[in-house]
Amino acid sequence: MRMRRNKLIFAALLASLTLLGCDEGDIEEHDERVQTSGKIAKLTAHITGIDSWSSQYSIVLAGFAEGNSNAIVQKRLLDSDEVTTLSLTSDDIATIELCVTNRLRERIATFATVSAQQLQGDTVYLDAGNVDLGMYKTIQDLVFTGTCARCHGLGATPAGDLTLVEGQSYAQLVNHPARIEAGGMRVVPGSAATSLLHKVIHGDSEAGVRFDHSNMIKEQNTITLIDNWINNGAAED
Ligand code: HEC
Repeated sequence: MRMRRNKLIFAALLASLTLLGCDEGDIEEHDERVQTSGKIAKLTAHITGIDSWSSQYSIVLAGFAEGNSNAIVQKRLLDSDEVTTLSLTSDDIATIELCVTNRLRERIATFATVSAQQLQGDTVYLDAGNVDLGMYKTIQDLVFTGTCARCHGLGATPAGDLTLVEGQSYAQLVNHPARIEAGGMRVVPGSAATSLLHKVIHGDSEAGVRFDHSNMIKEQNTITLIDNWINNGAAED
C-alpha cells in the first residue's frame, strides 16, 4: 500500500515538472525548456560606437521573451566594457541580445544574439567579438542596405539620383541638396522637420517625391530612430 502511494507521489512530481512525457503512449506535449531564472548571461565583446547614440537610447545586454520586443531585464553597456554579466530573472527569457533599446526598453536593433537555452552550467555565453554599433552604421544596416539600396543603388541612374549604399549614403544625404525639392536639403543636421529624408519616410506627399515611400519602413520605432539621428546632429559615426 505504502509503496503504491509513494509511486503515485513520484509520478505526480514528474508530471508537474513536465520534464518527461508519460509512459502510456499518448504522449502529451511537453516543454523541454530549461529554466533560465537564477542563471547568468555573459557577454564578451569589444564594442565601439556607443558614444554616438543620442540620449533616447541605451546599448544593452538584454533578455527578451519570445515574440516580445520589450526587454525583461537589461544592463547598460559602456564603450570600455569588455565583459558584461546580466542576471536572468525570469523563465520567460528566450534570447539574450546585444542590442539597442529605447526608453521604453523596446528593442530597436540587435547586433548579436544567443538562445537563453544554450546554458553551459549556469551561464549563457555570448561572444560578439568586435562590434561597431555606431548610430549611423546601425541605420545603414537596419534600413538603407536592405530596404532602400535596391532602388537607390550604385548604377548609372539610382532612383532620385540618390545612392544609399554603405560608404556613400552619408555624403549623399547630409547637407546635400535635394533633387526633387527646390532649395531643400536631404538631411539638415539638427532639423528632421526640414529634411527631405524625414518627409519621404513619413510619406509626406507635399515634398513632391513622385514615389510613395510610406509603409516602406515597417517599424515606427525605426522611423523615429532616423528622426532622432537627424535631430541629434546627424553624425557619421
Ligand atoms: C522601389 C524603389 C524605391 C525604394 C525601395 C526606395 N525608393 Fe526612394 N525613391 C524612389 C524613386 C523612384 C524616387 C524618385 C521620385 C521622384 O523623382 O519624384 C525616390 C526618391 C527618394 C528621395 C528623394 C531624393 C531627392 O533628393 O529628390 C529620398 C530621400 C528617398 N527616395 C529615400 C528613400 C529611402 C530612405 C528608402 C528606404 C527606406 C527608399 N528611398 C527606398 C524609389 C525607391
